[in-house]
Amino acid sequence: MSKYKSDFPVFRKRPELVYLDTAASAQKLGVVVDKVRDFSIDSYANVHRGLYELAEKSTLAYENARKEVAKFIGADHDEVVFVRNATEGINLIAWSWGWRNLSKGDVVVLSVAEHHGNMVPWIELQKTVGFEIIWIGLDSDGFVDEEEIVDTLNSRGDDVKIMSLFGVSNVLGQRLDIEMISRKCQEVGCKLLVDSCQLVVHEQIDVKELGCDFLVFSGHKLYGPSGIGVMFAKKELMEDIGKFPAFMSGGDMIENVSLDKVTFKSNYERFEAGTPAIESSVGLGEACKFLMSIDRGFEIELVKYLEEELLKLEFVDLIGPQKSGVRSGLVSFNVKGVHAHDVAHILGEKGIAVRAGQHCAHPLHEKLGVMASVRASIGIYNTMEDIDKLIEGLREVVKVFN
Ligand code: ALA
Repeated sequence: MSKYKSDFPVFRKRPELVYLDTAASAQKLGVVVDKVRDFSIDSYANVHRGLYELAEKSTLAYENARKEVAKFIGADHDEVVFVRNATEGINLIAWSWGWRNLSKGDVVVLSVAEHHGNMVPWIELQKTVGFEIIWIGLDSDGFVDEEEIVDTLNSRGDDVKIMSLFGVSNVLGQRLDIEMISRKCQEVGCKLLVDSCQLVVHEQIDVKELGCDFLVFSGHKLYGPSGIGVMFAKKELMEDIGKFPAFMSGGDMIENVSLDKVTFKSNYERFEAGTPAIESSVGLGEACKFLMSIDRGFEIELVKYLEEELLKLEFVDLIGPQKSGVRSGLVSFNVKGVHAHDVAHILGEKGIAVRAGQHCAHPLHEKLGVMASVRASIGIYNTMEDIDKLIEGLREVVKVFN
């Protein structure tokens, strides 16, 4: 029994559920559900506007949530912007910082294993701006090639303006050496954006130690509400309105509006136009608080066990290196001769939830030469017994197809 299973109301209602799809979206913490409920009943009004008691309580709760989130990633509260999800955060950076700072002749570096959310915004911006995208490929094990990242910075460093990479790949489970990459980026003076959706779920991070300029993640993968995410930008970027202008404009982000002149707030508030996702932000703050109070280190052993048990199955091919101890949070694989959707469907009938398909990473699957894959991803509620049930389920899948 996981120490944390009882912290999730879903497992009280469905004790048999084997939930191995946290990488898509996590189950919700009881403290988050309670916090959102209590806040909605006791403290809700619009933020940054009203002068009555409820409005003041609501603003305080919203800004406290920002402080919790900032603490969670080792940032200051004024380096944190609430967005809808990581994808919105990347679009914000691309269409705000990117549009203002990139031009023809510049280079943006991405890997072929990025989630579409960290791929398509840059491809779309490229159509408007005309910069070059260098795609980092895979090494012989099927992981993103870190040497190629370094070589690219060594050979094209003068042209590279931003590198935008996953922290942990949502298909490979690879944890990039962001600390090393950020040092290299600083040497050549390029910005580093980390899509940390899968990273923050499994590791207590510190943006200063990571050394990144931008970082994004989503609340729904972090045992918090959906519809809320975070964009971190270093203070000096956030403060330079000329280099990092607003992406969306409207109410709450302005300083003054007259019919012929608009002035904007000069920090994170400039990026939150309109009424924000107030109760979801409060819920996310609570999720961060909970995660800071526990040690998620046991997940390393859990993923290693998952890798090892899958490697024992002669009818399974892992995506990425055919070895254990190299992945974070998840393992993707295929059952020989069976489509990933069929595998997931049969497992689903047994109450085992996994994801199957291309996991919003079409180019990666194309590079790997596989149509689709099955992904088992873990959260703090999972146990070795869950993994045993998955393995047993896979044996039954093979029986069905034989
Ligand atoms: N980005 C989520 C996943 O990888 C949806 O499943």
